[in-house]
This record gives sequence, structure tokens and C-alpha cells, in this order.
Amino acid sequence: MNDAAILGRPLFDTPITRLFGIRHPILCGGLMWLADARYVAAAVNAGGMGFITARTFPDLDVFRDELRRCAELTQGKPFGVNLFISGRPEENAVLDRYIDVLAEEGVRFIETAGNTPEAYLPRLKQAGCKVIHKVSAVRHGLRAEKAGVDALAIVGQECGGHPGLQFVGTMVQGALAARQFRVPFALGGGIGCGQQLVAALGLGADAVVLGSRMTVATEIWAHEDYKRKVLETGEGDSRLVMASFRNTYRCLDNAAARAVAELEAAGERDFARYLPHVRGTNAKAAYTTGDWEQGILSMGQSAAFADAIKPVAEIFAEILWDATAARDRFDGLRPQAAAADTAAIASSAAAGGR
Ligand SMILES: Cc1cc2nc3c(=O)[nH]c(=O)nc-3n(C[C@H](O)[C@H](O)[C@H](O)COP(=O)(O)O)c2cc1C
Repeated sequence: MNDAAILGRPLFDTPITRLFGIRHPILCGGLMWLADARYVAAAVNAGGMGFITARTFPDLDVFRDELRRCAELTQGKPFGVNLFISGRPEENAVLDRYIDVLAEEGVRFIETAGNTPEAYLPRLKQAGCKVIHKVSAVRHGLRAEKAGVDALAIVGQECGGHPGLQFVGTMVQGALAARQFRVPFALGGGIGCGQQLVAALGLGADAVVLGSRMTVATEIWAHEDYKRKVLETGEGDSRLVMASFRNTYRCLDNAAARAVAELEAAGERDFARYLPHVRGTNAKAAYTTGDWEQGILSMGQSAAFADAIKPVAEIFAEILWDATAARDRFDGLRPQAAAADTAAIASSAAAGGR
């Protein structure tokens, strides 16, 4: 079987593959500045789901054009939009306008993240959208579930971006979420290979959500020097910053992150001192120029799985090959003796024995 064949045939059927109408339980989460039409369409065309990061396009006309470009690239197959809900209400005024545009353009799948999506759910539902809300703690997921989201994503502390405040690992998040969530859920944080996909499904998740592993995809527009840096980044090379502001990021260990860490270690509380290092536009500049020393560049432990710059479809195929191997491994672990015992019991029962 070749890559096209493994991509074309579903390996797993879950409530999330059915919710999004996708072949594979692989979601590509929003990536600020990076998740544009080309990347998201590549994820959709490879059989997963992707989310265009709305806040990357502050001009609503440009946002609308991006949605149209994605619809063209997927040849009409549905795709998603990521809406990040800020803790600062003044930054959320724009969300209603994004929702107007995405509803007009027929977008039906939304990944919300950050603060609770409660205030936006009635409008999104009215527009016929399915909403998956991403959280870093089970209790936040339970609140969103009560508010009526269709699905949840939960990330562990290994993740790139916002790991939350409690730093609970992905294995623990997944098993606890499976016990407590009623809606389908995706698991993320440090996931970058197919063995982990099977482990996530084994824990009870219905899909995985990927971020860091995908930043080296060919379809990500960022400068090659940035992608080369990610290729060199191992599982222990990311850094946690801004925990002192209760807004933790896991990011590349670069000059900007080290400057922020020094300010935090010195007990600095004046945000103005941090701003030159944490401004979002610095990250955009880093992706544009390849100067990865500037900006807080979200990056998690799964950067360790990034081995080459290659198309999204090849990364997905690799994950699915590994997932097949992981499934086979489970089959191979069935104790032969137990299987023989079971057969003997069955035949003795059939012969009237006990
Ligand atoms: C470069 C980068 C940018 C991200 N930007 C966003 C974002 O704007 N909104 C969001 O909801 N999540 C964002 N995330 C988080 C991802 O969508 C995803 O939840 C996370 O990366 C999963 O963990 P992983 O990095 O271990 O795969 C970002 C992650 C990365 C690596």
C-alpha cells in the first residue's frame, strides 16, 4: 500500500470523524499567523480537519478572501475557523464581525479556544456551526459542555501555545476527560506520531489535535530558517514563559523567551517592560524573515517528531502508517496461552463440560 492508499481509506471511525465528516481523526488546531487557507486546505484534502486562525486576518475583507481561497482549494469540502476568545473583553469586540463573515461564507466548523465560548454559541448555532472548544483543564471543558458545545479538545502541558496554569500532562488529561466529558473530545499536547494517535484513542479520545508537529509542513508559509530551527528542536528544548501573568506560553527557547524569563525571575510586574519581547507582531516578523530569535513563538515538545520539511499529506500518511503498526502491536500482545485457554474452555463447554 502507498501513501495515497493509506490516506484514502479510513482507519478509524469515531464520533469526531462523523461530526466533521472526515476520513481521519486528525485535527490541525489554529496556529496564529500560520494557519491560512493553503495549510488548512492541505489538512482537509489529506482527510483531516483544519482551522483558519481568524485573528491572523484583522482586515475582514482579507479574512473573507482567505475563506474563499480555502473553499476553492478544498473544492468545496468543509473546513474550519479558529476563534480565540481573549480574557480581555475589549479584544473580543471583533469576534462578532468574524462570525458575520464566516456565516455568510458558509463555514460550518469552529474551534474556539481561550475563554469560555458561552457568549458566542447562540450566534454560531444559529449559523449552523458545529463548535469544538479547546481547553487546558477538565473543569473548563465541563463548563463549555454545559454551555452546549458539540465537542471538546483538551491539551496537556506538553503543548505548544497555552498549556494553562495547572500543567497537567496529556496522558492524565486524556484519561480524566474520557471519564468526565459526555461530548466527543480530541486530545492534544505533545502528539506527533501514530503510536500516540492510537494511545489517545485507547484513552478514550475521539481524535487528536496537532500544532507543533505541523509547523514544518511545506504548506506553512513561514521562512525556511524558522522551519530548520524547529527541525533542530528536541522534546526538551521548549520553554514556559508568562506564568507569572497567569497567561503561560510554551514556546521556542529563543532570545525573546529568555529575556522574558529573566524579567519574570527578577520579579518584574510591569507589563510594559515585557511588551517589546511579547508583541504578537514580533512573531509575525520572525516567521516572515526567518529570524527565530525574536517573538514568543509557540512550540511544544512534539517538535521532536518533526524530521523534515514535507507536505501535510506526507505527515498524515506517516502518522497513519505508525498508527497501523501500533494497532498491530496490540494484536501481537494478546497472550497466546490465554487464547489457547479460551479455545479449550469454549470447546469443553460445547462438549457439555464446565
Ligand atoms: C505556532 C503555534 C501557534 C498556535 N496558535 C494558536 C492559536 O492562535 N489559537 C489556538 O487556539 N491555538 C493555537 N495553538 C495551539 C494549537 O492549535 C494546538 O492546540 C497545540 O499546538 C497542540 O499541541 P502540540 O503543539 O503539542 O501539538 C498554536 C500552536 C502553535 C505551535
